[in-house]
Amino acid sequence: MKTCIIIGAGGRGKDAYAPYIKKSGIMKIVGVVEPDDKKREDFKKEYAVSEEMCFSDYHDFFQKGRLADSVIICTQDRMHTEPAKLAIECGYHIMLEKPVSPVETEIDELEELVKDYDKVFITGYVLRYTPFIIKIKELLDSGAIGKIMTMQLNENEGFWHHAHSYVRGPWSNSKTSSPLIVAKSCHDFDLMLYLIGSKCTGVSSYGSNGYFTPENAPGDVPMRCTDGCSFADTCKYNAVKLYTEGKASYFVHKFECGEDKDAIIEALKTNEYGRCIYRCGNDVCDHQVASLVFENGATAVFTVSAFSLDNTRTIKLMGTEGEIGGCMEKGEIVLKRFADMTEEHFRVTHDGTKHCGGDSGIMRHFAELLERESVKNDLSVFESHRMAFAAERARNNGK
Ligand SMILES: NC(=O)c1ccc[n+]([C@@H]2O[C@H](COP(=O)([O-])OP(=O)(O)OC[C@H]3O[C@@H](n4cnc5c(N)ncnc54)[C@H](O)[C@@H]3O)[C@@H](O)[C@H]2O)c1
Repeated sequence: MKTCIIIGAGGRGKDAYAPYIKKSGIMKIVGVVEPDDKKREDFKKEYAVSEEMCFSDYHDFFQKGRLADSVIICTQDRMHTEPAKLAIECGYHIMLEKPVSPVETEIDELEELVKDYDKVFITGYVLRYTPFIIKIKELLDSGAIGKIMTMQLNENEGFWHHAHSYVRGPWSNSKTSSPLIVAKSCHDFDLMLYLIGSKCTGVSSYGSNGYFTPENAPGDVPMRCTDGCSFADTCKYNAVKLYTEGKASYFVHKFECGEDKDAIIEALKTNEYGRCIYRCGNDVCDHQVASLVFENGATAVFTVSAFSLDNTRTIKLMGTEGEIGGCMEKGEIVLKRFADMTEEHFRVTHDGTKHCGGDSGIMRHFAELLERESVKNDLSVFESHRMAFAAERARNNGK
């Protein structure tokens, strides 16, 4: 069985990928690199990792040379390129979380290294491996809608999800993380390249952080929801409600305070998630659109927006022979054919892992690649990042 080492035992490394690897037995986890003592210790116990294969920093780890077949790099956005370059120097097969980097020049640098790399390099584009996208790709490849002319893709973030990650949380500031369209939507541009099957040649974009600013507060609000806010009963973003009984209660494990309501409220008095949504000083967009044109003449429109109830992607592909529409979270796909004016409905299900089964799908894909004799890395990962950077430039420059 091929071996892997997790670098960054946080939300992705420890909570998303490692449990599936263990449960499925597709690879063997033999090491962990994580500076947080508790997370590293917990990981060590859970996966029976030996003491000498536990590291607190990836620099020390890479100094040892190659200790396994592969590394799964799950550090934060601005800590991706360096460990990836060191992993290439050591000759590891690599799964690098997306975005590859929030710095455009680093995308070029890494592409140069990956171009002729004879080991596997993939990035965390989990959506390609969801049963939902697999089914749509199968329909497209069968010619069900002829030549794709138009694509519409909506990333409906969920107001509670955007509030947690992009206003209060780690991706709120583009200077310390990434612009929203790079952090979140490089993924969506990957889907466009994958499904349209042609290079992107032009992008325009508009958007802003239009709502989560002090001017939009309902009145005189305190810095924290726990400071006796007079709008607590009506505010959809009241942290106490969101984290104790609302949709964001899913994220409470990040507070490391347990599930008790009083303990959660206590944590909200000091952590970043208890701050008033209008007073977080965040700068990333809360809504953005991009329109794109491809070498084969197809056009696409992409919208990412905080302002939805559910966290889901909706898609519409319009071709010369028919159209396909779908909602990822519901697993619903509708195919309409022009020739006989029929409508066919499909319902796909997944194994319950996050991202509609994409988290397990990508791990299976990675494990399969490790078994292959020869490696040909897909460089479109760099292209999708360039589309995201181009969209952000277009938004900033109005061009
Ligand atoms: N593929 C997807 O759909 C998807 C979804 C969510 C997040 N992400 C991306 O995955 C990455 C990780 O996100 P997360 O939510 O797990 O973040 P996280 O903050 O929960 O985890 C990052 C971990 O890296 C550790 N770390 C910090 N310095 C380190 C070092 N020097 N060496 C080793 N580890 C170090 C941190 O202590 C932390 O545990 C981010 O880049 C994020 O954008 C991808």
